[in-house]
Amino acid sequence: MSRIVYVNGEYLPEDQAKVSVFDRGFLFADGVYEVTSVIDGKLVDFPGHAARLERSLTELDMPSPLTSGELLSIHRELVARNNVTEGMVYLQITRGAPEDRDFVFPDPALTPQTVVLFTQSKGLVDSPAAQTGLKVISIPDIRWGRRDIKTVQLLYPSVGKMMARRARADDAWMVEDGFVTEGTSNNAYIVKDGKIITRQLGTEILHGITRAAVLAFAREAQMKIEERPFTIDEAQAADEAFITSASTFVMPVVSVDGAVLGDGTPGPVARRLREIYIEQSRKAAV
Ligand code: PDD
Repeated sequence: MSRIVYVNGEYLPEDQAKVSVFDRGFLFADGVYEVTSVIDGKLVDFPGHAARLERSLTELDMPSPLTSGELLSIHRELVARNNVTEGMVYLQITRGAPEDRDFVFPDPALTPQTVVLFTQSKGLVDSPAAQTGLKVISIPDIRWGRRDIKTVQLLYPSVGKMMARRARADDAWMVEDGFVTEGTSNNAYIVKDGKIITRQLGTEILHGITRAAVLAFAREAQMKIEERPFTIDEAQAADEAFITSASTFVMPVVSVDGAVLGDGTPGPVARRLREIYIEQSRKAAV
């Protein structure tokens, strides 16, 4: 299936879309990205993703090449042109392609940024993994110190997923100074005695858009929440666990480094939050 993708103002068949070899995204991972999910052909949590993109750009001294309205139009156009009913829209903005490789940032007035968006059709709501739950392993968190900026430096998360696969697990939770930071591409939570525990926001983790929505729904449902770091020992002794992200929504975790949580099936808090998140996202999607 050939997709229509967006590159610097043009909608093109994917095999005709090109980016320069001097692009700083390619040479320096000098770029930011967002992943927005699509349900019923509509965008989930779009304002949150647009706001975080703006923040990532500002933190890296990159201008915003598009207004939030323009971004929304491009997202919608791609969803329509590719007939996406369920899946994701991926967006990437890099510092562009100067004339030569140079560590110093190019002058934004002379080097336009590269803007790329494409769609990925994928079943998200009826995911089989939501029925079985995920097995996670722990790995050291050796990423850079500004994980709150959503940059395209994804080599270590990718290595982490491979470490999980080799250990016959589904994903990895990263640990720094004895505490879990987050999953390779998601935020991490445990549940103990009815209380949801997840690391507080800071530069150590990405400020998940799904996290913000899910915690707000949990508060509305009178669930108790503690935003603090937790250890792998604590996770292994938890009643249940889960992750959140735009591509997984709320996904139960059933084992941590081989220790089975509860009865080894998705726990009630994770199942309930997944239901609420999907139901509310359906209503609020744009
Ligand atoms: N990943 N933490 C990390 C390191 C992430 O890469 C992501 C998202 C999240 C969850 O953020 P959100 O709820 O806004 O999706 C947390 C995306 C889905 C990805 O890289 O594909």
